[in-house]
Amino acid sequence: MKKQIWKLIATLGLIAVIFLQFNIKVSPQTQEGSYSLTHPSLTQQLAYVAFLQTIKDDTGNSMDVEKMTIRQSELACMPLYKLKKICEPADFTDQEEKEEPQKKPTVDAIKKKKVALTFDDGPHPKVTERILAVLRQYDIPATFFVIGQNVEKYPQIVQQAADEGHEIANHSWSHRNLTKIPNDQVLVELNQTNEAIYKATGKYPSMYRPPYGATNANVRSLTSMETVMWNVDTLDWKHRTPEKTLAYVKEQVKDNGIILMHDIHSETADALEAVINYLIEQNYEFVTASELLE
Ligand code: NI
Repeated sequence: MKKQIWKLIATLGLIAVIFLQFNIKVSPQTQEGSYSLTHPSLTQQLAYVAFLQTIKDDTGNSMDVEKMTIRQSELACMPLYKLKKICEPADFTDQEEKEEPQKKPTVDAIKKKKVALTFDDGPHPKVTERILAVLRQYDIPATFFVIGQNVEKYPQIVQQAADEGHEIANHSWSHRNLTKIPNDQVLVELNQTNEAIYKATGKYPSMYRPPYGATNANVRSLTSMETVMWNVDTLDWKHRTPEKTLAYVKEQVKDNGIILMHDIHSETADALEAVINYLIEQNYEFVTASELLE
């Protein structure tokens, strides 16, 4: 007998648990925040009535919702889509009918900081090749400001760089200070280099970087190419120490950074992987100089 009573209690308990769970599953429709079009909450319907009352008619008077042959009590229990049929102002949008799925943030939506790696004074038969190999390994674009007379010697390296997606730009024919030579020589320095680049890559450059960063209004007036300087100076040519190259990058780099390095020193090639890894870690996106200046 006792056993039967316990069985009954257990069964009733089980039924109670199932019922409660079922109730929890069906009840959210009536809760705030779980709004659906056919079951708007009372608060939502009243808010809509209040909205109707703010609408002006042709003469500028407020519309009398009650005179629209509907009683307040009916409004309160009327599905929202019917309420909308009562009065559809022209500027009412159906936006709230659709529950827009929440947009997930994507990695692309987060704006990355941009940086351009630039290499001057090449091409160099050994160092440029090493630098290209590292860039290929990381699938990173860079910009090479080439010396015309080096392009003439090693056109295949320039062609390879261009083929691998890097930008080729002008760094004069023989690295002279363009502010200290006559105009006709400035033109030779720039134009001969452009022709050598065209011969190697089939494309004329759109940018030049004056040797030593030395330029003035006169030099700029002689060419339609964009003058591109730098804002991160690694001084790699001076100290020839990979650790220092990395340290200068860490110290100076910022969004829209243009990093100056030289692809004629083996120590620069030695530093490149560490520089790239640091910039990746810092969430930088690598772009060419002209992409950066767009
Ligand atoms: Ni230079």
